[in-house]
Amino acid sequence: MSHDDFPTDYPAVVTCGLPYANGDLHIGHLRTYVSGDTLARSLRRIGQRTAFVSGSDMHGTPVAVNAEKEGVTPEEFAIDWHEKYEATFPEFGVEFDNYGQTHDETNTELTQQFVREWIENDHIYEKEIQVAWDPEVDQPLPDRYVEGTCPYCGEKARGDECDEGCQRHLEPGEIEEPTSTLTGNPAEYRSREHKFLRLSDFQEYLKGFLGRLEGTDNARNQPKEWVEGELQDLCITRDMDWGIDYPESESESDDPETSRTESDAGKEDLVLYVWVDAPIEYVASTKQYSERVGEETFDWTEPWRDGEGEIVHIIGRDIIQHHTVFWPAMLRGAGYNEPRAVMASGFVNLDGKAFSTSRNRAIWADDYIDEGFDSDLLRYYLVTTGGFQQDIDFSWERFQERVNGELVGNFGNFVYRSLLFAHRNFEGTPRTEPSEEVLSRISEAIEEFSTGLNDYSLREASQAGIRLSKFGNEYIQRNEPWKLVDENEEEAAQVIRDCVQLAKATAVLLEPVLPNAAERLWNQLGEDGSVHNARLEACLEAPPENFGEPEALFEKVEDDRVEALNEKLAERIDAAETSADEGDETENAADLEPLVNERIGFEEFQELDIRVGEIEVAEGIEGADDLARLEVDIGVETRQIVAGIKRLHDLESLPGTRVVVLANLESAELFGVESNGMVLAAGEDADLLTTLGNSEPGTKVR
Ligand code: MSP
Ligand code: ZN
Repeated sequence: MSHDDFPTDYPAVVTCGLPYANGDLHIGHLRTYVSGDTLARSLRRIGQRTAFVSGSDMHGTPVAVNAEKEGVTPEEFAIDWHEKYEATFPEFGVEFDNYGQTHDETNTELTQQFVREWIENDHIYEKEIQVAWDPEVDQPLPDRYVEGTCPYCGEKARGDECDEGCQRHLEPGEIEEPTSTLTGNPAEYRSREHKFLRLSDFQEYLKGFLGRLEGTDNARNQPKEWVEGELQDLCITRDMDWGIDYPESESESDDPETSRTESDAGKEDLVLYVWVDAPIEYVASTKQYSERVGEETFDWTEPWRDGEGEIVHIIGRDIIQHHTVFWPAMLRGAGYNEPRAVMASGFVNLDGKAFSTSRNRAIWADDYIDEGFDSDLLRYYLVTTGGFQQDIDFSWERFQERVNGELVGNFGNFVYRSLLFAHRNFEGTPRTEPSEEVLSRISEAIEEFSTGLNDYSLREASQAGIRLSKFGNEYIQRNEPWKLVDENEEEAAQVIRDCVQLAKATAVLLEPVLPNAAERLWNQLGEDGSVHNARLEACLEAPPENFGEPEALFEKVEDDRVEALNEKLAERIDAAETSADEGDETENAADLEPLVNERIGFEEFQELDIRVGEIEVAEGIEGADDLARLEVDIGVETRQIVAGIKRLHDLESLPGTRVVVLANLESAELFGVESNGMVLAAGEDADLLTTLGNSEPGTKVR
């Protein structure tokens, strides 16, 4: 790894968090893959040699559990999904150089080699631990076979992760009040021998590593707290038969006659924990790529082990701990190189609430494609809505707004007008040089693109092209070529020449996020070859002299279309919720907090100064996972208020929203930010209270 700006002299590897081969992909997953693809394309654009790899995560208990439900083997089950994903990614323009899977030979061998290295380097020990056990079916309950309460935050937790609460990884035996998901019985505990990776060996190393790590702030900062405290060792084996076998030691496996010793008897069903072999697939997938293209073109050992390289992991924020604590320790323990950067994206939500696969509350990748939308539109939404670390909401209205405003109205409009003028009046590119003003504006855009990329901001890098087309539209407005063509042909030629150059530059700059549209534009310009192979320098190179009549790059999304999409979505969610509610009618009532019996007097209520407010500014507080700083206009004045809504709302869309504020709450300081009041919100999702009518900010609530 180097810390030089991209492009560096070393090969880069861009990886995406592997999808569990366990069910349909939704657009939340796609945020990881579209971002990875956009990053890989962007890096190549600036001349960085890059391999873009991932693969399917075939192991783990959810796969085993669901395969059993369907009456097929876990392998058959996982392979089906794997093949499905292989077909889905290209539909979204996500083009991996290699897409493998964790159960294949390359990964199995490499994983076992990693473990052998750890054994040799004395990072592994065996320990008897208490594992959850279902007494009725008399079997151990690894990971997702057990549910209970998170010991860290008290939320409901499943298996090895606190997925609805603090997102932490949970070791076997840690979950409190465990019940079996097989029978619903309270789990018992039994003693079992398991293998551990001694993470404490890496504590000092990890502290240093986090100081060097690049990428997004959440990935660099959140783990600091975990490596400062006591580092719990990682149990790397599970009582299951679906997975990669814990390797026999070298000496034993050399001699097949004695390959199973006495002490190994009865351990046939000990496999490696899914989080051991999953990240190793990043390496295995790069290796497969090398084997296919030849080591002269890309030698996997260079970035991963024997040389230098720029390893960049793209993941969602739920798996930061795995990538910034466990994985670097695993690499280090086996003598591999460390990652240069981890980019952890926020989640994609619906109406401020997390997707729920079981409740069918999601926008599925297949459904999007079935609607016939160009995948570029979704790519654009995912990459440019909100900052990378921010949770974002998906709604068809916002989708329409972004498409119609920025893609149709700005970018599409600019290139269509430019190419049409050029075609009609000059049959293509006017034979003159572009102006200094335009060339220097394009150079500025190239600079913005590279800077955005080096700041790990895909949004900034992508906006360089969008801002350039905005400049183009203004340039047309200002110079009025429609008048010039009759009045002054030379000047008209100059302006249109400039516009064609700008159009070409936008194709090159926007290709990473809008690969299909950029290619259409490239063809309209009469360019040879593919825009996918163009380098950033091409922004300044002359377009071909002749081209035909252009076509609009994008279609507008009409209101009735949005209405229909919303209806479909609502019906589906309702149907899913009704059927879920029928299953557990009592669940909702049990979830509600009991009524408070003690009553208060009217005077006491009147002491509360509650008013209507309007959010003017909403931004995340750095270093705080959940907190946002708001500026709220409460009529008489504007208040700074800290609210725990950072992950629950799309902050960018909040300004202009009417809320209800408790104005006379005593002030408090949170993460160094003074809070003067409280924005009222309902429930765990912090559903913001608002007004039904149009009460102005400052109006008292009584
Ligand atoms: N298999 C693990 C990752 C192993 S990496 C060595 C996994 N799989 S997953 O299918 O649950 O998620 C795949 C990717 O999608 C991850 O990067 C995850 O963070 C991301 N997301 C899953 N749901 C998401 C949203 N709703 N929103 C944004 N990203 C989300 O985790
Ligand atoms: Zn928790």
